[in-house]
Amino acid sequence: MNFEFTEEQKMIQQAAKDFAERELLHDIIERDAKSIFPADRIKKLAELGFLGMMTDPKYDGGGMDTISYVLAMEEISKIDSSTAVVMSVCNSLVNWGLENFGTEAQKEKYLKPLARGEKIGAFLLSEPEAGSDATSQRTTAEDMGDYYLVNGTKNWITNANCASTYLVIAQTHPDKKHKGINALIVDKDTPGITLGPHEDKMGMRSSDTHSVMFTDVKVPKENRIGDDGFGFTFAMKTLDGGRIGIASQALGIASGAFERALKYSRERKAFGTEIFNHQAIAFKLADMAVKIENARNLCLKAAWLKDQHQPYGVMSAMAKQYCADIAMEVTTEAVQIHGGYGYVREYHVERLMREAKLTQIYEGTSEVQKIVISRSLLK
Ligand code: CAA
Repeated sequence: MNFEFTEEQKMIQQAAKDFAERELLHDIIERDAKSIFPADRIKKLAELGFLGMMTDPKYDGGGMDTISYVLAMEEISKIDSSTAVVMSVCNSLVNWGLENFGTEAQKEKYLKPLARGEKIGAFLLSEPEAGSDATSQRTTAEDMGDYYLVNGTKNWITNANCASTYLVIAQTHPDKKHKGINALIVDKDTPGITLGPHEDKMGMRSSDTHSVMFTDVKVPKENRIGDDGFGFTFAMKTLDGGRIGIASQALGIASGAFERALKYSRERKAFGTEIFNHQAIAFKLADMAVKIENARNLCLKAAWLKDQHQPYGVMSAMAKQYCADIAMEVTTEAVQIHGGYGYVREYHVERLMREAKLTQIYEGTSEVQKIVISRSLLK
């Protein structure tokens, strides 16, 4: 077993680290406080090729592997998860879904500009009454012959405003339950689409989250992905990969908080010595380091399985659940190590703690991951 990264993987990791430190760190506290979406930085990230990094070069993507993606996601999330989530949704959900299940015409029209980073995508599955219970889709896509008529509301949609291309999951045949669901490619500027206000979130406050309402939105039949009724399977298969992205994001949040706590513990003095010299602190840091190492190994194993074209859905659920849960634990300890300073914005760890919480909720809660994992144990 080879745990060494290739030269290319190390270069991508370094490029992501440099980008995050140079472009994202200097105003993250202000952007978080005021919920400012960093459109200019997303443009730069796109120009560097990060938004389409895993898409096949045949479709104008970077052709990089999932290991490189995990490394890049970790580095960017150490500093700014709100930017990292744009990268995750574009790469893992939208581009991957189109590349693997779209027609050549759909790839030509929609995937290529996404992979080049000229456009941004969004994945519209969650609804007011269909979060964890994703089969209960209320949004309808009525079959009108040569087009679908879409009506309904989607909630908590990342990239809702900045995206041009939506992948919308909607129910066409309610009698068939999840086997009647379709996935449709929808241009955001289609008449009948309106957005709710920017969500005032606890964490990842500068990511672009809105609800999206559909009123008699006409979507051409040729924009359906896969056969009639393939939409739920499409969503589940796509989320298998999406969870590697969010697991790496949670890993980055944890390792970012850990690095800050370690640095602080070597500078801050109490009882006549640097606080690292007190076992109460050193043991906390040891526990945090072990959790982060385990989390990284799970992310990389899920990524490796995906790159080897082996089943990876259960491993990605394990990575997502574990990384999100330890991100919450590690960031909480990082705040504790900082004491009062950890509770104010300047030291970043309180923000990382707020961001960690979201990783336990979106792209499937930690409990949803345990459903996936425990069901696999019975097979
Ligand atoms: N791959 C392929 N097929 C799958 C699958 C997978 N990973 N998981 C389930 N399926 C299939 C099943 O085989 C089954 O098919 P059959 O009926 O033919 O046997 C069908 O889908 C239904 O599966 P289940 O019976 O397991 O469905 P369930 O209702 O029990 O739900 C669940 C399973 C895991 C809880 C699922 O509903 C789920 O993942 N929920 C969470 C949804 C989620 O992650 N939402 C996140 C929104 S996206 C987001 O957050 C993006 C963002 O903006 C950041």
